[in-house]
Amino acid sequence: MASLSAAALARAPRAVEPGHLVYAARCAACHGRNFEGDEDAPALVGVRFEAKWRGQAARLRDKIGRSMPQDDPGSLSPAQASDVTALILAANRMPLPPRTPGARSDGSEAM
Ligand code: HEC
Repeated sequence: MASLSAAALARAPRAVEPGHLVYAARCAACHGRNFEGDEDAPALVGVRFEAKWRGQAARLRDKIGRSMPQDDPGSLSPAQASDVTALILAANRMPLPPRTPGARSDGSEAM
């Protein structure tokens, strides 16, 4: 299983750290600490996820920004959506998307 192991995190620590904070606070309750999903929320790693989203990084970021967290859609800042997308891509060992102009997180708007 391609869950987010310590080894996976160690491969891309800088890129995924801000996203990790967002994920833990806003996503893990439904999608699980290791992206494994639950009865309602789909897993965000694995064969099914990869088949659906590989090569679709921008679309993935867009969906997350518009519709997640499902209990409060649209509440992520663009930077948070980008950061958490980068984390999920890294967990799937997919390439990161180009940054949305102006959406770079320096952490200052994360709270
Ligand atoms: C309240 C529970 C809940 C929370 C919190 C939540 N999600 Fe979801 N998520 C779902 C459900 C249910 C679906 C399936 C329906 C859909 O695709 O809209 C889903 C679908 C998704 C999908 C599409 C998966 C696929 O295979 O197409 C992604 C990506 C995703 N969520 C990411 C996130 C991220 C990132 C966060 C945190 C910012 C988050 N979700 C927070 C419940 C949740």
